[in-house]
Amino acid sequence: MLKNLNFNSQFIMMRLRILFTLCILTCCMHLFFTGGGLCAQPLAGYERVLSSPDGRMMMRFTVVEGVPIYSLERDGVRVLSASKLGFTLEWRDGLDSNFVMKDVKYSSFDEVWHPVWGEEANIRNHYNEMLVTLEQLPGTVKSMDHSTDTRPTVMQIRFRLYDDGLGFRYEFPMRYNGVDNALVCFWFKEELTEFALTGDHTAWWIPGDYDTQEYNYTESRLSQIDSLYEKGHEHGGWPWTDFSRTGVQTALQMKTDDGLYINIHEAATLDYPTMHLNLIENGKLKNEKPADAANSAFVFRTWLCPDAAGYKGRMQAPCHTPWRTVMVCDKATDVLRSRLILNLNDPCALEDVSWIHPVKYMGVWWEMISGKSTWSYTNDYPSVRLGETDFLHAKPNGTHGANNANVRRYIDFAAKHGFDALLIEGWNIGWEDWYGKQKEFVFDFLTPYPDFDLPALNKYAHEKGIRLIMHHESSASTVNYERWMEKAYNLMNRYGYDAVKSGYVGTIIPFAEGHYSQPINNHYHYAIVEAAKHHIMVNAHEAVRPTGLCRTWPNMIGNESAMGTEFRERIHPGHTAILPFTRLQGGPMDYTPGIFEPDMGKIVPWGKPMSHTICNQLGLYVTFYSPLQMAADFPEHYEPYLDAFQFIKDVAVDWDTSIYLYAEPGDYIVTARKPKVSSLNKAADGLGALPDGKKGVVSNAAQYVYGLTDSASLNGQTPRDVWYIGGITDETAREFTVKLDFLTPGKSYDAVIYCDGKNACGLPGEGYNPYSYTITTKKVTSKTTLKLKMASCGGFAVSIRERL
Ligand code: NOJ
Ligand code: CA
Repeated sequence: MLKNLNFNSQFIMMRLRILFTLCILTCCMHLFFTGGGLCAQPLAGYERVLSSPDGRMMMRFTVVEGVPIYSLERDGVRVLSASKLGFTLEWRDGLDSNFVMKDVKYSSFDEVWHPVWGEEANIRNHYNEMLVTLEQLPGTVKSMDHSTDTRPTVMQIRFRLYDDGLGFRYEFPMRYNGVDNALVCFWFKEELTEFALTGDHTAWWIPGDYDTQEYNYTESRLSQIDSLYEKGHEHGGWPWTDFSRTGVQTALQMKTDDGLYINIHEAATLDYPTMHLNLIENGKLKNEKPADAANSAFVFRTWLCPDAAGYKGRMQAPCHTPWRTVMVCDKATDVLRSRLILNLNDPCALEDVSWIHPVKYMGVWWEMISGKSTWSYTNDYPSVRLGETDFLHAKPNGTHGANNANVRRYIDFAAKHGFDALLIEGWNIGWEDWYGKQKEFVFDFLTPYPDFDLPALNKYAHEKGIRLIMHHESSASTVNYERWMEKAYNLMNRYGYDAVKSGYVGTIIPFAEGHYSQPINNHYHYAIVEAAKHHIMVNAHEAVRPTGLCRTWPNMIGNESAMGTEFRERIHPGHTAILPFTRLQGGPMDYTPGIFEPDMGKIVPWGKPMSHTICNQLGLYVTFYSPLQMAADFPEHYEPYLDAFQFIKDVAVDWDTSIYLYAEPGDYIVTARKPKVSSLNKAADGLGALPDGKKGVVSNAAQYVYGLTDSASLNGQTPRDVWYIGGITDETAREFTVKLDFLTPGKSYDAVIYCDGKNACGLPGEGYNPYSYTITTKKVTSKTTLKLKMASCGGFAVSIRERL
């Protein structure tokens, strides 16, 4: 009996043990393979796993001796090995140790949303999420304010895993489980997020810098970043404020020897400094060892831009950081297709977006950039005091570009060719000593020069169906700009300007702030939010590089934030084949393409030839996405090539569908896009709201899509099925085969093909011939295959319209 009992209890115990083991195993297997489901307490020491919807990506999270650690895999292959998470703080122990895992929650999300403008009309946001709650228990950490030592310190990490990458951010709740968080107001010394790469990947990088992103990209192995530090700065922007020989900016595009494309960036950077990356170099940086020092020689750690006091994030719970992102794709074209950054941003914050529209514009601008004319009105005043300096009686220098006659000339040309808008720089007083003088009160954004008749020019423009684009160069005096902003936006409203190009050239005032510190990032955002109240769209130059905030604030219609056309001959071949992988991941760029006279020596004696052909410039209108797109050259440079200019007129700037056909960072990109009909004529339609506006002017791309020969009304017309294809290449000439199988079967189309001519060559030196092109027309169908050649630094463009 006893024996039996013993046997029975042993049997029961054994069964219980098996059941328990099975339960743990099932739980962990479930987590391992699906990333879903919940595992009950205890959590400490257990690895938590999250998988992507397609199951190919896997993120593992664990806490090792109090330190939060994550890693990432694709198809079972390590993309990131064990990488630490956390922060060091002012006035208290860091958020980098002494943690216990309190809770893990899983969820999934799947929706399709529709951007106000974008590369496609429908974007799928599909991810699996894991929210980890970590605590430092009372008594395990110390702060200056001992009253909080009795409370737990709560830090949550929200991971979202997509089929094409990972996003995660740190969150700091006010209270957790009914108990106050010890973190209320706190200050980061540094964010310690690591990205432990598993090899010496090829990278396309620009140097880490607190003040400029205007650099050429350097292609090198990660191990070469240090030795290429000086070279990486050649021909770059100003001011130059670096922090480390191995510091780089994001979005950082990399490629492994196995052909995997890895891209590290951030999303939704609000009220937080910008993230750079710094190679830890196997523990050499500040003697700190990465989580996986033994296996990972290439560990990046976040390096935030400090504010003037050295803080790297002044936080107030409840709050969270921006998302840190790691995109992983098998193909380069998938990087261009990814919407990871946009998806991690919040939905649109504006209820009424009817006033936001795509813009194709020209500008009184290239004249000043090329040196042909000046922003300033007079040479009389080496030192200007706004409100005191008498411009009315100043002697005009004769080179001021923004004069009434010249502006009218541009309005006439832009209107004749169906553009939406015209930018005019140098219209306002203060340009005589605006640059490099560190003046706080540099512009008032209100007072025109004597030869710029603002009301009359606006009236003239509106009568011709053109809007003027305002220009607010702040000379990086953000403090001055904020003082005048409301008045400046009101002036714009009074005269019907609905878009502003702002600028932040030079050293930031308040002094000691960098261009990407938390307070200055807050300034850029303030400008967007205030502009939205005035129904104004913003295109900021030299501002922080975008992180997808245009999803939430679609009036942020453009940004520069990288080396654009204004750098002329300093731009390296292949630059524009890198930007869509890097800078453009966060949002559109006002790259200002369309330079048909690239030999700047023909404009000014000191000018040098730029590295591109005319067809390369045409290709950019399709390979670069921007809802704000410029035809940047002078009217007189387009006049000799009006047949090629026709493509710039015909091409749309906002898309229903985009297909990325061929791409390799730094080498080439070939893209096909279908226009979004609903936004084609939105800019022109909006003019009807103005008292002096001419209603219903049909924009140039709308004319093409609707098959109109002039600017007759769109009423009663039917849009045709239209596609555009664009290609660009670096210094290597190439040929691509493009199958038109994206066209609707059974329909016939007319294609106009703009290709580099036989002798075309965009590379300066012997044989330089940027002007040679051919234009051929062809009947095509979905069964047609095109062979398209590009010269060195060349490109091509094709417009395809359904035949009726
Ligand atoms: C730099 C900008 O990028 C450029 O477009 C502008 O013309 C000048 N600043 C002057 O504001
Ligand atoms: Ca610039």
